[in-house]
Amino acid sequence: MNNFFCVIFCCLVVFSAAALAASNLNQEVDVTWGDGRGKILNNGELLTLSLDQTSGSGFQSKNEYLFGKIDMQLKLVQGNSAGTVTAYYLSSQGTTHDEIDFEFLGNLSGDPYILHTNVFSQGKGNREQQFYLWFDPTADFHTYSILWNPQRIIFSVDGTPIREFKNAESVGVAYPKNQPMRIYSSLWNADDWATRGGLVKTDWTKAPFTASYRNFNANACISSSSSPSSSPCSSTSQGDNAWLTEELDATRQERLKWAQKNYMIYNYCADSKRFPQGFPKECALNA
Ligand SMILES: *[C@@H]1O[C@H](CO)[C@@H](O)[C@H](O)[C@H]1NC(C)=O
Repeated sequence: MNNFFCVIFCCLVVFSAAALAASNLNQEVDVTWGDGRGKILNNGELLTLSLDQTSGSGFQSKNEYLFGKIDMQLKLVQGNSAGTVTAYYLSSQGTTHDEIDFEFLGNLSGDPYILHTNVFSQGKGNREQQFYLWFDPTADFHTYSILWNPQRIIFSVDGTPIREFKNAESVGVAYPKNQPMRIYSSLWNADDWATRGGLVKTDWTKAPFTASYRNFNANACISSSSSPSSSPCSSTSQGDNAWLTEELDATRQERLKWAQKNYMIYNYCADSKRFPQGFPKECALNA
């Protein structure tokens, strides 16, 4: 751990406080795209995005975060969702941006969605892992979580870790740790590539397509340049910042292995054709 980093990290721990925030989506996000196709309903309990032949829609968080444990429940587009993509991710700005992605690629009725994940650090991505899910993600809400702390990024689905991206700065790989990120989500049409490489097109007679969101929960360090004296870490639960040093215990490592063994359908760290000169350096740590 270098000193600069320790200064940031230790300050976060010292100044972290329990700021109780209700999970009211009106207070947490702004619908930023879609001309009325994105809506916050039921006094902030529910958010829906929709997509028709004219446009998709999207929202972003009001806050920017520098580390956090962020949960959201999503219920994806039902029925024939082929060609639709529901993206839910954290991202900073600019050409050397950091990004942590969940993307849900729709499919024909009864065929499995693909959950696509990626991690960008300093503008470099190409770290895709893809999964099927062990349930129908359109039948009900499920919780999709991103834990982002100085040591690791963990993607979880209903509490089951599916992917861990460890800080690999020790082997020269940039890690997202200096650029605050916002949450973004959008529902859009990508039938030129999303479903079986673009072979299956969107059926617009089924439009509008709708995805729903609820129960946003962030234990996170809020990056606020406007009021730098405010507590950087806020919490919607007990103000417990254990997540800042959280790692996978033996039980959750077993769950991760279970998910990867049974549901992972693509792993860049196993794609030897793509990396004939050898796998990216972080792959050795994340094997
Ligand atoms: C759609 O279903 C087909 C057939 O089961 C499968 O090969 C594909 O991975 C599924 N997902 C997408 C997004 O194409």
